[in-house]
Amino acid sequence: MRNHRRLVLIAAAVVALVWWGSQVAAFHDEGVADCAGCHTMHNSQDGALVDPDSPNGNPWLLVDASPSDTCLNCHGTRLGAVFAVDPLTPAPEKGGGNFIFLTEDNINDGHGGATNPIVGDAAGHNLDAPGHGLAPDATLTSAPGGSFPASQLGCTSCHDPHGTDAFRLLYGAGRQVQDGVATFLNPAPVAEGLSIFFGTESDSSHTAYQGGMSAWCGNCHGDFHDEAGGRLEHPSGSTLGGSIATAYNLYNGTIDQTGGVAATAYLAQVPFEDAANTTGSTAGPTAGSTVMCLTCHRAHASSAPDAGRWDFAVTFMFEDGDESGSFDMSSLLVGNYANQNQRSLCNKCHNQDEFDHNPF
Ligand code: HEC
Ligand code: HEC
Ligand code: HEC
Ligand code: HEC
Ligand code: HEC
Ligand code: HEC
Repeated sequence: MRNHRRLVLIAAAVVALVWWGSQVAAFHDEGVADCAGCHTMHNSQDGALVDPDSPNGNPWLLVDASPSDTCLNCHGTRLGAVFAVDPLTPAPEKGGGNFIFLTEDNINDGHGGATNPIVGDAAGHNLDAPGHGLAPDATLTSAPGGSFPASQLGCTSCHDPHGTDAFRLLYGAGRQVQDGVATFLNPAPVAEGLSIFFGTESDSSHTAYQGGMSAWCGNCHGDFHDEAGGRLEHPSGSTLGGSIATAYNLYNGTIDQTGGVAATAYLAQVPFEDAANTTGSTAGPTAGSTVMCLTCHRAHASSAPDAGRWDFAVTFMFEDGDESGSFDMSSLLVGNYANQNQRSLCNKCHNQDEFDHNPF
């Protein structure tokens, strides 16, 4: 190809990319997007049904059968890809996690898990999205610790379809959710996320959790896990204190329990809240940092029961996926954590593997 032709082609490609970038970059724009992106007034365009799944239309005049199906049409396999297509090859992790694990036939990697399947609906928040093969949770009828009905749970139970200026368009205090299914009492969490167009979670590129997540989950889960009402539970939304923060900073995996340094101690699989966190920060916690719901859970779903950031029922992390045949979450671990001796990530704060024998 002659050089000037190549240059013209490259210039055209750049223009196309910039055009495409400006088109995709703006839909919600931290507020209400163009109505036609999600609604259809007559369910008819060019004489054809806009939503063939609902020949008689649907209650909110949406372009697909349910609110969650409408969101998944854009966000299922791109724009953050929160669903993906195959639970064994999930889309890159950005923080929330993939709903595709809800379709697993077994996520039980505990002892005897192969013959005692735990089906995918325990992998996290179930959604009413028949167009994507999803249905409300078959086991839990409401949010443990609270009363939000599982039958109504979908994307728009947490994210405002008409937009907010909060982190990830999440609902805040005083807001009525889904036409009044619930009213949130606590504000949206303070955090900053990765771009949904590119990038993947790592120890130096991750959601910057800054505050308020536990209270926000509490909008539906009440005071679950909060030791309120006299119950003894693991703290959430509480400060770590000096000795746990020090343990976190020193712990650099089962094979190096005291070799870590505070400046690089951040482990994306075991995050904490701190006002100083940024999406690129690698620093570990201080005494005033907070343990919170997403220290142990994903907000959407994971390949472990209870949306665990790691499987709470395996002894060695590398055993993940072995019994169940589901996605191996230990494949996401790197550095000193990526070896067969690595035990439960609870040790990042508690270091109970101190006196263990390393068998491998
Ligand atoms: C990102 C998708 C999306 C966009 C864009 C959107 N809507 Fe909606 N809208 C929904 C969903 C989903 C519901 C169903 C209620 C729910 O799930 O919260 C809804 C419900 C409604 C309702 C009835 C319930 C309510 O919340 O008052 C009205 C009216 C409405 N939308 C109007 C609009 C108008 C007008 C626009 C454009 C300015 C718009 N919507 C843009 C998704 C969207
Ligand atoms: C027509 C395609 C389309 C539909 C339908 C759609 N989105 Fe989006 N969404 C986008 C695009 C493009 C972006 C990135 C740009 C932006 O935020 O405007 C985005 C961004 C987001 C973000 C990240 C915002 C941030 O600030 O980080 C969330 C959360 C989200 N969408 C949720 C939803 C939910 C919930 C629904 C269903 C009610 C929905 N989207 C429907 C295209 C769509
Ligand atoms: C809009 C209400 C709502 C919010 C907000 C909410 N949840 Fe839930 N959650 C539910 C409901 C309803 C269920 C039970 C149905 C299900 O599991 O699908 C549930 C179930 C769960 C489960 C158990 C999943 C299973 O199947 O065993 C976990 C873990 C969980 N939530 C954690 C969280 C965390 C962490 C947050 C905050 C990031 C959060 N939830 C925010 C409504 C909510
Ligand atoms: C129980 C509440 C809840 C439900 C239900 C929920 N989300 Fe989220 N979503 C969150 C929270 C919280 C985050 C931020 C998670 C983080 O960064 O750790 C998030 C993050 C996101 C992001 C940013 C990318 C990522 O993976 O972190 C997108 C896009 C998104 N959600 C879309 C959706 C769509 C589409 C649905 C329905 C198919 C949905 N969400 C259902 C709470 C929820
Ligand atoms: C230190 C880790 C940790 C923290 C922090 C944590 N959880 Fe959990 N969560 C777990 C484990 C482990 C389980 C499995 C059941 C158990 O051990 O009680 C679980 C189970 C759950 C369940 C399922 C309960 C059921 O009956 O099926 C829900 C819902 C839940 N957590 C919500 C939350 C919420 C909301 C927060 C924040 C307020 C939170 N968790 C904070 C570790 C944690
Ligand atoms: C981000 C740090 C962090 C992680 C990760 C974490 N914890 Fe904790 N844990 C704490 C804090 C802070 C306390 C309160 C300690 C105190 O008050 O002295 C605590 C208390 C406890 C206690 C009560 C012990 C006591 O001294 O009263 C137990 C048991 C416990 N955690 C188990 C777990 C398990 C099991 C996991 C993994 C599922 C886990 N923790 C993950 C920070 C963490």
